[in-house]
Amino acid sequence: MVERIEEIEAEAKAAVEAAGSASELEEARVRYLGRKAELTGILRGIADLPPEQRGPVGSTGNKVRKALEAMIEEKAEGLRNAELERSLAEDRIDVTLPGSPARAAGHIHPITRTRRMIEDVMIGLGYQVMEGPEVEHDYYNFTALNHPEGHPARMLQDTFYVEAEGHDEEVLLRTHTSPMQVRAMETNKPPLFMIVPGKTYRRDSDATHSPMFHQVEGLAVGEGITLADLKGTLLAMLREIFGPDREIRMRPHFFPFTEPSVEFDVSCFRCGGSGQLGDGSRCGLCKGIGWIELGGAGMVDPNVFGFVADAGYDPDSVTGFAFGFGIERIAMLRHGVGDLRLFFDNDVRMLEQFS
Ligand code: DAH
Repeated sequence: MVERIEEIEAEAKAAVEAAGSASELEEARVRYLGRKAELTGILRGIADLPPEQRGPVGSTGNKVRKALEAMIEEKAEGLRNAELERSLAEDRIDVTLPGSPARAAGHIHPITRTRRMIEDVMIGLGYQVMEGPEVEHDYYNFTALNHPEGHPARMLQDTFYVEAEGHDEEVLLRTHTSPMQVRAMETNKPPLFMIVPGKTYRRDSDATHSPMFHQVEGLAVGEGITLADLKGTLLAMLREIFGPDREIRMRPHFFPFTEPSVEFDVSCFRCGGSGQLGDGSRCGLCKGIGWIELGGAGMVDPNVFGFVADAGYDPDSVTGFAFGFGIERIAMLRHGVGDLRLFFDNDVRMLEQFS
């Protein structure tokens, strides 16, 4: 009888080992340890055996049953792990994949796109891009830019003033990017070729003015720089932005920090500068004038160099030009946007048109 139990054990172990799935293992368990299994029957019938066999059969039978139970448990665990490994490998889900349908990525804001385009053009012309503080001292925004005391631009309706304890002079939100002309010259010796894109602030709000808007400032200083260089630079820049057939014109104007000063226009890119469309009607973009006003410019006033003479800008040896214009205006023209406030309402139906 003990021998038979050992045979059953060998058979059962082989069956458990061979089981390749949970259901095959369960089959083996039922066959060798279930209620109708041979071993179960033997253990149940011990009382009917001759007394001298009861001990050995009982102990061998119970030992084998325990060993088989342990083996089955171990095998079950192994199968569960293998199953887990398999499903991890086969049913892999990449939770980082975009959903279905994929969510649209956002868009770069049209003002940012326009700013970057201008930067690219000017970097191509050898200019470096600088940034400066939006909260500025009166000195840089006005005084060092040759604004005499009492100049209308200093009056309250144009400028946001900031309460700044511990500052002797007035602090304000810069009304233009021009203060960076002075800051850049203070820390960089000539020759200097730089642009400053950035936010500017004025107390003004309508379809073409926003209290916060963006400008690009340009400054070129060196020996022998002339108004012709200014014109050539503006022409090269505006042809990159508005097309190779554009022309520019400069009209006399006044700015405190340039002398002479001009305003510059680009020839209309809708009507080609004629002021008339193909059907003879008046061009709406330039209002029939053929020119589109863009910004201010001029030769740096020697008085401005006077404020940075110690930094190497001797008004007797260097000359330079400066220009400034609004980024919103360029973006409105390029994209046919009629109301500047649309850029800042952040209505996605407007913004997603610029992908
Ligand atoms: N800062 C002027 C403005 O905001 C624009 C300007 C005019 C900039 C002439 C310049 C310049 O650099 O030379 O209206």
